[in-house]
Amino acid sequence: MKEPMIVARQLTRIVPNGQATLTILHEIDLTVSAGETVGIVGASGSGKSTLLALLAGLDLPSAGSVSVDGVDLASLDEDARAALRLGRIGFVFQSFQLLPAMTALENVMLPLELQADVSARDIEQRARQWLQKVGLGERLSHLARDLSGGEQQRVALARAFVIEPQILFADEPTGNLDPATGAEIIDLLFTLNREQSTTLLIVTHDESVAARCARVIRLSAGRIV
Ligand SMILES: Nc1ncnc2c1ncn2[C@@H]1O[C@H](COP(=O)(O)OP(=O)(O)OP(=O)(O)O)[C@@H](O)[C@H]1O
Ligand SMILES: [Mg+2]
Repeated sequence: MKEPMIVARQLTRIVPNGQATLTILHEIDLTVSAGETVGIVGASGSGKSTLLALLAGLDLPSAGSVSVDGVDLASLDEDARAALRLGRIGFVFQSFQLLPAMTALENVMLPLELQADVSARDIEQRARQWLQKVGLGERLSHLARDLSGGEQQRVALARAFVIEPQILFADEPTGNLDPATGAEIIDLLFTLNREQSTTLLIVTHDESVAARCARVIRLSAGRIV
């Protein structure tokens, strides 16, 4: 049995809802091994994006705990959580979250620029390479805001891939792509898993993508079913 990479215990997220509260994740227990591939499926509103954000330390749970590579996220402040993600965790957001006034290339260079040990020349070369791999070699100097939805999604993927993360969280990574481009992107994800043992957690509505994962988790109204 490989070391667990992610361990979630009794993970619960409660949000205010008018005068009352709403529990959007109920006591989720989940252990993901290093190098494992996990598909997360479930209806819209079932809590998939919420779960991913908690596992990545982007949001904090209302109760329960998450540890990543043996580190309890609750023991870290926001800066320390960001430092843990830097260079090790890639995240592809459902809403992309690119910097609109920066070019495609600048967006992909950004996570490398935050790392102290990568030379300027390497940064640009690696960013170009990954943009080429997602099929955007001809769009390097377009501003992110001028790119189509599917192109923005591919920039977001290149930005997540460029650090060659240990863990990659992808929230519907091919939701805006045509089937052929989507299939290429999914192949890239599984190649990363195979060649670099990247641990993958992929939210998807596509059963054929889920079927390629070693394990599939189904969420319904904030619970694993
Ligand atoms: N900060 C918040 N405040 C209030 N409600 C929230 C908040 N975040 C999420 N929710 C609610 O929690 C539920 C789960 O949201 P989440 O984004 O995790 O769903 P999802 O499974 O990713 O759905 P989709 O497939 O549509 O992306 C939704 O009903 C959403 O409205
Ligand atoms: Mg979502």
